[in-house]
Amino acid sequence: MAAETIIDLQKVSVYQNNILILANVNFEIQKGEFVYLVGSTGSGKSSLLKTLYADLPLIDGSAVVAGYDLKNIKRKDVPYLRRKLGIVFQDFQLLSDRSINENLLFVMKATGWKDKSAMQDKLQDILTKTGLSTKGFKMPNQLSGGEQQRVGIARALINDPEIILADEPTGNLDPATSEGIVQLLKEISSSGRAVLMATHDYALFKRFPSRTIRCETGNVFEGVQGSN
Ligand SMILES: Nc1ncnc2c1ncn2[C@@H]1O[C@H](COP(=O)(O)OP(=O)(O)O)[C@@H](O)[C@H]1O
Ligand SMILES: [Mg+2]
Repeated sequence: MAAETIIDLQKVSVYQNNILILANVNFEIQKGEFVYLVGSTGSGKSSLLKTLYADLPLIDGSAVVAGYDLKNIKRKDVPYLRRKLGIVFQDFQLLSDRSINENLLFVMKATGWKDKSAMQDKLQDILTKTGLSTKGFKMPNQLSGGEQQRVGIARALINDPEIILADEPTGNLDPATSEGIVQLLKEISSSGRAVLMATHDYALFKRFPSRTIRCETGNVFEGVQGSN
């Protein structure tokens, strides 16, 4: 597969409330890559991800994400950018009053799906891909934390995103369960999507080595310190 850039950041600054969090951020991510975003708490990982999904405005530099130029993106186009991204959070953010199937169908409806049989096909497809094919009728509180995060990942896959942005997806999970989630995200990247996963769990990326981008002292570096 020829390399194809799906995230391209050049001289980007990341701000929170006019405070500079990260300066001169430069990196590219290709389709099919799995990349860790590491750094201690408060180093700017979530802020960088928010910039990529246009939750924080791009003020300096240039950023192209899934074909959208974040410098010039119009507010009405942000939902379309977000459909090209699957976003996974640390707290699974499932609707507790309805089943897994209903959680996923709810998001499909909210993002414009109408064809009932296509919705059922997609539902089975994403449940199978995430190892949940027998869990659709369960309520969120009947699932383990790892299973709930798999639902979070299934939800992120609904619109066939080109990129998955995962912000500490294993932050609430025990080590063995975390490994399963990383393996699933790696499988998803090898199907041609890019995955950028923020984490500060060094044990995880030692066990499953992959390209690593590091936030530290207001800058972003390639690689883990001392490893390259
Ligand atoms: N909504 C916000 N308003 C103001 N400052 C914020 C906000 N969110 C985060 N920050 C600050 O931005 C810095 C980076 O935070 P964050 O991106 O959440 O780091 P990380 O995800 O690596 O823990 C921290 O100093 C944090 O206090
Ligand atoms: Mg964070």
